[in-house]
Amino acid sequence: MYAAFRMTRFQFIFVFFISISFKCVAQQWINTANMLNGRVDHAAIVLQDGRVLVTGGRQNNILREAEIYDPDTEKWTFTGYMISPRAYHRANLLTNGKVLVCGGVNPGPSGTSELYDVKTGNWTDTGLMNYPRFFHTSTLLKNGKVLAAGGRIDIGDDVNTAELYDPETGNWTMTGDMNQARSDHTASLLPNGKVLVAGGSSIDDLDSAELYDPETNAWTSVRGMEYARSEHAAAVLPNGKVLVVGGMGPSYVKRGEIYDPETDIWTVTNPINVVRRDHTASTLPSGNVLITGGYYNTEALKSAEVYDLSTDTWVTLNSMNYGRFRHRASVLLNGTILITGGFNGGPLKTAELYSIS
Ligand SMILES: *[C@@H]1O[C@H](CO)[C@@H](O)[C@H](O)[C@H]1NC(C)=O
Ligand SMILES: *[C@@H]1O[C@H](CO)[C@@H](O)[C@H](O)[C@H]1NC(C)=O
Ligand SMILES: *[C@@H]1O[C@H](CO)[C@@H](O)[C@H](O)[C@H]1NC(C)=O
Repeated sequence: MYAAFRMTRFQFIFVFFISISFKCVAQQWINTANMLNGRVDHAAIVLQDGRVLVTGGRQNNILREAEIYDPDTEKWTFTGYMISPRAYHRANLLTNGKVLVCGGVNPGPSGTSELYDVKTGNWTDTGLMNYPRFFHTSTLLKNGKVLAAGGRIDIGDDVNTAELYDPETGNWTMTGDMNQARSDHTASLLPNGKVLVAGGSSIDDLDSAELYDPETNAWTSVRGMEYARSEHAAAVLPNGKVLVVGGMGPSYVKRGEIYDPETDIWTVTNPINVVRRDHTASTLPSGNVLITGGYYNTEALKSAEVYDLSTDTWVTLNSMNYGRFRHRASVLLNGTILITGGFNGGPLKTAELYSIS
């Protein structure tokens, strides 16, 4: 009896000690080197070699500058001027290792696109899109083409058009129109090769969603979300479902929802701890989803939370060192998250790292 008690007490003290030490080593956001330029509404792409290419965005002007982060040296290096300045553009890593950037504003809506060659560090012009667009989405398909969908062609003028970039020809060709014009929506590549587009703004905030099928070039409306939202974020889960989270509808949306392509059903998640728009969502190596920053009313948020798939709970993490919105989050090859730029009183140069399993 006595021995058992002592054992239990020992275990208790042991566990207590472990939890204290765990608290002491709890992850912090670590500042890494500042970018060379302050940037908001830029694009960030993890290259095949693990470095991160950051392009454009706004500082005082709309930027042409591109720079690269090397996780080994934790330094930023200038890597040439894009042919065109651009912000609110989109970027994709192509299967050949080059990076395609398309659209954005300069300062008017742009239909140009260009390629970054990692080997030479040079930018070259490639096809002109059929529509200028910003606040659009661009998605690398399994066939190697890039789908650009929706966006604005002018202030208050959202489009339902979509087009495909073919890296073999360097040309953009029209594909099927979406059923709904939208900008500030999300697009997620499903494991079956289709693309789920959800929400966004149009005249009204949207709860609608649709699927693009690259085999037929056609869009099919699917079940709408429970909550209309734009300026939200989306992440594809390891089980092939898609989590959308946060954003703004008639009011801030507290709930995430998960789309199951097998059943065409959206399932509402527990509420997030801090409501937000213009935040990021990244699927972690564990399959959980990290959301960072964004803004609420006029406040740029430092808050970060992680969605635990197995318990359907949002866990508050330590806050970032800087509040920021319209920043970018990149999952490095070793699983560390790199946060770049964003806005907080002005465009930020700061970048920070977070390691989480
Ligand atoms: C991953 O890379 C980042 C950036 O270089 C580094 O700070 C971090 O220590 C690395 N993490 C591991 C587990 O190697
Ligand atoms: C890349 O740019 C450099 C300097 O701007 C130039 O000398 C070189 O010829 C370019 N390479 C290619 C493949 O265009
Ligand atoms: C691609 O564009 C170029 C120049 O605009 C044109 O000459 C060529 O025929 C196009 N290729 C295809 C496959 O449409």
